[in-house]
Amino acid sequence: MSEFLKFPSNFVSDQFVEYIDESEIQTVVESLAHTISQKYKGQELVLVGLLKGSMIFMSDLARQIKNVKVYIDFMKVEAVGRSKESNGTIVISKDLSSDVLNKNVLIVEEIIDTGRALNFVKERIAQAEPSNIEVITLFDKPYKRAVPVKADYIGKQIEDQFVIGYGLDLDQYGRNMSEIYYLKYPN
Ligand code: IMP
Ligand code: MG
Repeated sequence: MSEFLKFPSNFVSDQFVEYIDESEIQTVVESLAHTISQKYKGQELVLVGLLKGSMIFMSDLARQIKNVKVYIDFMKVEAVGRSKESNGTIVISKDLSSDVLNKNVLIVEEIIDTGRALNFVKERIAQAEPSNIEVITLFDKPYKRAVPVKADYIGKQIEDQFVIGYGLDLDQYGRNMSEIYYLKYPN
């Protein structure tokens, strides 16, 4: 496949700069999985992945968690009406599909930016009264946080750049790339 075809339509490959290579991502994911395995050893854990961005991270992370009884679920939220003037309204387009009452829940995010989406999801899950809620994120961009929400486990803090690959998209494309790229312009 030519380099050009790897990138989202309307964009050319020289707008994307490789930022984190596949082996570094894998090392970070392995280390996170090890930490989660230690923390929840011998217990039951519900992983709640946020669609669509977290699907690749979820799949690699879940397979490397050992000696934990893992249950997998997904939620999807989106900001409707988001524009330059408004943050939009966050709506749930896919809710939990399991009962998390008295369970350990680990929310699986690929990246946290303003924190609005995560904050909303955390509050929604709290209503279902799990015994514990923690958050794991592969990447953190703490610069534009609008709500004071924190991840309990962070893979890597990155620069304030728009990134794609490994689940992250630009206009829905680029999720299948194994590396992380940042967008040179516009940004
Ligand atoms: P937040 O509500 O601003 O924290 O952002 C939530 C969602 O925005 C993330 O789960 C991602 O889906 C998306 N997002 C934030 N930063 C990036 C990025 O750099 N590239 C692609 N998607 C991003
Ligand atoms: Mg997204």
